[in-house]
Amino acid sequence: MQALVIYAHPDPSSFNAAMRDVTTSTLGEMGYSVQVSDLYAMGFKPTIDRDDFATTFDARHFNVTREQRHALEHRGLRDDIQRELDALLAADLVVFHFPLWWFSVPAILKGWFDRVLVSGAVYGRQYVFERGKLAGKRAMLAVTTGGPEAAFGPTAINGDMLDILMPIHRGILGFCGMTVLPPFVGYFVPYVGDGGREKLLAAYASHLRAVEQLAPLPMPRLADHAETLAPLLRTKAE
Ligand SMILES: Cc1cc2nc3c(=O)[nH]c(=O)nc-3n(C[C@H](O)[C@H](O)[C@H](O)COP(=O)(O)O)c2cc1C
Repeated sequence: MQALVIYAHPDPSSFNAAMRDVTTSTLGEMGYSVQVSDLYAMGFKPTIDRDDFATTFDARHFNVTREQRHALEHRGLRDDIQRELDALLAADLVVFHFPLWWFSVPAILKGWFDRVLVSGAVYGRQYVFERGKLAGKRAMLAVTTGGPEAAFGPTAINGDMLDILMPIHRGILGFCGMTVLPPFVGYFVPYVGDGGREKLLAAYASHLRAVEQLAPLPMPRLADHAETLAPLLRTKAE
């Protein structure tokens, strides 16, 4: 089994780095071969522009999706994109490590999603959710927050963590067909002290060791939608 770890934190001595090391050692013990993409260390370019493509589909209008599909067919994706895409396509499990920044991912990770999740390679108009091209692969988020756990929940000030992560879980990973596993969230990381951080690392290791047994998050299915993507109403008997 192949695991790909996408690590998005600028500080090599961060708590996120400690969590990443738990991922590499634990998955290694479980028999996975693990590859890490350390986005800051790689100087990963976060924005899409013409330089992403060695090929040109339309020199007048820069339609990213069309350029992606054209480049894919003509081996025109730049090396940094192609390398990450190859690693993703080879992976059975992908773990994303990042601190929650503004209820979202750091820009460098958003850039990885934008540039590596190439149209035609990982999704297409007819190929989303259960028909997405990454179907069969599992994905899991390993997130840290500055906010305390009590600040997250349906009636809490920040709202529910699964609602915050929904654009990533459903809009990106599930959309491309991946089986999305429940995330691990390390809350209040800067304020819990060394003992608290040790406990979080131990809890994270347990979460990860159960990765084969974790029940995936529910995702929508194309099969439950019409061609317009409007929901199909089903009767109970169906
Ligand atoms: C730009 C930025 C935005 C942040 N946004 C949030 C946020 O929306 N919610 C939150 O709980 N913490 C937020 N934080 C705090 C970080 O999530 C927290 O410092 C980090 O998860 C701690 O992990 P680390 O020690 O590995 O950096 C933010 C921090 C920065 C720098």
